[in-house]
Amino acid sequence: MKIKAKAKPEFDKYWYYRNSVQAPDNDVQFLRETYKEIRGKDPVTLREDFCGTFAISCEWVKMGSKFKAYGVDLDSEPILYGLSHYLPQLAPAQRERVKILQENVLNPGLPKADVIAAMNFSHFIFKDRSVMKSYMHNAYATLNSGGIFVCDVFGGSQCYEANEEATEHKTHTYYWDQENYEPISGNALFHIHFKPKGQKKIEKVFTYDWRLWSIPELREMLRETGFRKTHVYWEGTTRSGEGNGIFTRSEKGEDCQAWIAYVVGEK
Ligand SMILES: C[S@@+](CC[C@H](N)C(=O)[O-])C[C@H]1O[C@@H](n2cnc3c(N)ncnc32)[C@H](O)[C@@H]1O
Repeated sequence: MKIKAKAKPEFDKYWYYRNSVQAPDNDVQFLRETYKEIRGKDPVTLREDFCGTFAISCEWVKMGSKFKAYGVDLDSEPILYGLSHYLPQLAPAQRERVKILQENVLNPGLPKADVIAAMNFSHFIFKDRSVMKSYMHNAYATLNSGGIFVCDVFGGSQCYEANEEATEHKTHTYYWDQENYEPISGNALFHIHFKPKGQKKIEKVFTYDWRLWSIPELREMLRETGFRKTHVYWEGTTRSGEGNGIFTRSEKGEDCQAWIAYVVGEK
């Protein structure tokens, strides 16, 4: 009898992505705490724009029976992955409270929410100021009264040059590769590569063609689109000068090679 060789498991890019860059439990904690700090009460509904595999939405509904989440993404591929990998991990009652829409975040009529979040710098895809402003305007229009818009942003001197950073994990190496930075447009091209242990490096698993927006630009656009206040949440540092993962409201940041922050707009 001929024994067939076992098929090599297909490379699961979203598994590597999840285990390299995502921390949906930290994200929901930050979103909930930030809303509570501003509003003095819990939020109920989250809209996760650019949701991809909607890991944050799945984490949001785990917080309790009142929490509801909507995810919005253009691309069926990550949505289908989330539907087959993350949604089934939820209890049936939790699943009922997650709704996913394959839509453009620029479309009118998206579901209303207390918190609208654009995470992992996804909004950097809008390179044109007028398009970014129409996105923010759309978020403003669909926030419940007193709602907040939250997006993340990165910067630092390292962002203005080509470089590749490798991070070792138990099962693989994750590479964040900045191919270039073009100062006139402010655009930069990024790639994610992975090298599973004992295997060849798999190049350009994800590619991002982004404009590197600054914190003051994002705040200005939020104010121009109607948000009554904006805040910046800046990361604290450990004794050795590394980011400590704790973000607090601040009006003064410290310049460093690479930083991540959150910009928040209040409706
Ligand atoms: C950087 S990924 C981030 C996905 C997810 N937030 C995460 O952290 O895993 C950006 C996502 O935005 C989606 N996207 C890009 N432009 C969009 C648009 N105009 N409307 C909705 N989704 C969009 C892409 O399909 C992709 O899934």
